[in-house]
Amino acid sequence: MNELPEHVRKNRVRWEATAQSYVAAGEGAWNLDSPCWGIWGTPESKLHLLPADLVGRDAIELGCGTAYVSAWMAKRGARVVGIDNSESQLATARRLQREYGLEFPLVHGNAEDVPYPDCSFDFAISEYGACLWADPYRWIPETSRLLRPHGRLVFLTNSFLHTLCADERESYPAHEALQRSAFEIHEIRWPGDSGVEFHLSHGRLDSTASSIGIRDRGFARGASGRKCDHQIRPCDARLGTKVALRRSLENQ
Ligand SMILES: C[S@@+](CC[C@H](N)C(=O)[O-])C[C@H]1O[C@@H](n2cnc3c(N)ncnc32)[C@H](O)[C@@H]1O
Repeated sequence: MNELPEHVRKNRVRWEATAQSYVAAGEGAWNLDSPCWGIWGTPESKLHLLPADLVGRDAIELGCGTAYVSAWMAKRGARVVGIDNSESQLATARRLQREYGLEFPLVHGNAEDVPYPDCSFDFAISEYGACLWADPYRWIPETSRLLRPHGRLVFLTNSFLHTLCADERESYPAHEALQRSAFEIHEIRWPGDSGVEFHLSHGRLDSTASSIGIRDRGFARGASGRKCDHQIRPCDARLGTKVALRRSLENQ
């Protein structure tokens, strides 16, 4: 495996330091009968982020943290792998695996450089994991490599609109006016946070997917009220891989 990029090393330190504060949320999510997503806890029955039939499918969670999304997929019959940059997060995941009697591989590593061969998975997902903390110009092509023909990628991350309008303290609610240019956003280092986040506009995400031969892209609005879900459904022509990128924009 290649030497870790600086942002991955920084995020490793950051997540080792904060992992303890994610234990309770991880325990709660492992205990759920059916998945719910995002800061409004929108139920899976409304969002359909997971494929309807996961039985016997190979799935990977990129930046799995305490691995509750992996657990939801394993309970639905998938053969799951979770990868995460933080050994402490994975320690919680391993304990919960033992408690729930649910075993699947948990890999300590960087989702931009995954130690699995090409075309290993049918489905890839990231919930505020690699899709927020890894470089999209690295992890999206890497995921495309990992997916089989007709494979699918779904991810859920922060609202891009919120990122545009948040102040330097990233406080809530966001401002009504833009605080930064959509064209300049890629890597963000918030003052007071040692981690490195990544945010791309929908246009940049779309062109990133396009530039690696992903076709069949589009955005779809989903839920109502304060919430707005966007979906990109690209298809990787090179690998013949269908990929769905689903983002949940939660601050509208
Ligand atoms: C907010 S958590 C999301 C995971 C899970 N949904 C949860 O809440 O436990 C973010 C996770 O992304 C992981 N992460 C950050 N950068 C990563 C990278 N380059 N590769 C793999 N995992 C990464 C962190 O270690 C952390 O566990």
